[in-house]
Amino acid sequence: MTIFVTGGAGFIGANFIYYLLKNRPADSVICFDKLTYAGNLETLAAAEPLPTFKFVRGDISDREEVYKAFEEFRPNVVVNFAAESHVDRSIEDPGLFLKTNIIGTGILMDAARKFKVDRYHQVSTDEVYGDLPLDRPDLFFTEKTPIHTSSPYSASKASADLLVQAYIRTYQFPATISRCSNNYGPYHFPEKLIPLMIINALNDKKLPVYGAGANVRDWLYVEDHCSAIDLILRKGTVGEIYNIGGHNERTNLEVVKTILKILGKSEDLIEFVTDRKGHDLRYAIDPTKIETELGWTPKTKFDDGIKKTVAWYLDNKSWWEKIVSGEYQNYYEKMYGNR
Ligand code: NAD
Ligand code: DAU
Repeated sequence: MTIFVTGGAGFIGANFIYYLLKNRPADSVICFDKLTYAGNLETLAAAEPLPTFKFVRGDISDREEVYKAFEEFRPNVVVNFAAESHVDRSIEDPGLFLKTNIIGTGILMDAARKFKVDRYHQVSTDEVYGDLPLDRPDLFFTEKTPIHTSSPYSASKASADLLVQAYIRTYQFPATISRCSNNYGPYHFPEKLIPLMIINALNDKKLPVYGAGANVRDWLYVEDHCSAIDLILRKGTVGEIYNIGGHNERTNLEVVKTILKILGKSEDLIEFVTDRKGHDLRYAIDPTKIETELGWTPKTKFDDGIKKTVAWYLDNKSWWEKIVSGEYQNYYEKMYGNR
C-alpha cells in the first residue's frame, strides 16, 4: 500500500509516519507538507533515509501541486493531517484557516477521486462539538453530538468535515472521519499548552495560564491517536465518524502543576493571564464506538504519558531550542507580551 500523509512534518502527522514505518513496514509512505512554521523536516530526519519513505513539499490548497504528487505516487490511501491547528492563531487571523482547512480538504478529496484512491481519512477534532459545561461531568461528546463550533479554527475543521460527508453522500467517496481530543507527546510544537509550559518551566520563565486555569481538556498520548487512525484505515467502515479519546480529563491548572512537580520547579512560576476569547470550557470524548466496534483501547494513562513527554523534552533540547530561538520569539512576544 502507498499511504499519502499530508501534514506529516507536524506533530501528529510525524508521529503517525513513525508509527507506520515501525508497524507497517511493507507499506510506502509519502509525506506531503507545505512546511509552514509548524512543519519541521528535522522531525522526519530518522525517516528520510528509509527507502519506503519520501518527502514532498507541497500545499494542499494548491490544486496543481496536489494533482502532480498524486500523478507521480498513485497512492491507495490518503490521511489528511495538514491544517492550521492553533486556536489562538485562528482568533488573530482566520483567513489562512479557511484556505488550508476547508479549500485544501476539498482539493485533496478531488485529487483522491480523480486518482481513485481506495480510502481517504480526514483527521478532525473534538472541537467541532463545541464545549461542555464544567458542572456536568456526566456529559460527553458522542458521534451524534451536534456540531456547534466556537473558534475560527473549529469552524474551519467542522466545515471540512461537512465537505467530507457531502463527498461521501454525493460521490460515494470512500472516506472516514475521526474526531480526537487533545494530543500530547514528542514533537509537539511549543505554542501549545503542554510543550509551552515544559519549556518555560525549564527556562524559569512565567507559565501563562489563561483565566483561572479551570478549563478542562481530555488528554490523549499521541501514539494512542496514531494506533486508532491505523485501525480505522484497516477495519473502519466507509462513511463513519469515530471519536477518539481516553477519559484523561484534567483542568489546565492541574496539568501545569503536574509539569512543575515533575520538573521540581516552584508553582510561583504560574501567572494567570487574560483569558482566550470564546474559550471552550470542557472537552470530553465518549470513545465507546471505536472501542466496541473496532476494539481500540488507549495504552497510556495521563500520569505516565506526561512523565514520558517531559523526559522527551529534556532529552531533545536541540529540537525545541532551535524553534524557540527563531521566528517563534516574535509570535511569543505578540501573544503574551501585553497579556
Ligand atoms: P501541527 O500544526 O503540529 O502540524 C500541521 C502540519 O500541517 C505542519 O507540518 C504544517 O507544515 C502542515 N501544513 C499546514 N498547512 C498546510 C498546507 N496548506 N499544505 C500542506 N501542509 C500543510 O498540527 P497537529 O497538532 O499535528 O494536528 C494535525 C491534525 O490533527 C490537524 O488536522 C488538527 O486539526 C488535528 N487534531 C489535532 C489535535 C491536537 O491535539 N494537536 C487534536 C485533534 C485533532
Ligand atoms: O481538542 C483538540 C484540539 O486540541 C485540537 O483540535 C487543536 O488543534 C489543538 O491545538 C488543541 O486545542 P486547544 O485549544 O485545546 O489546545 P491548546 O494547547 O492551545 O490549549 C489547551 C488549553 O490550555 C486551553 O484551555 C487553553 C489553555 N492555554 C493554552 C496556552 C497556549 C493556557 O492556559 N495558556 C497557554 O499559553
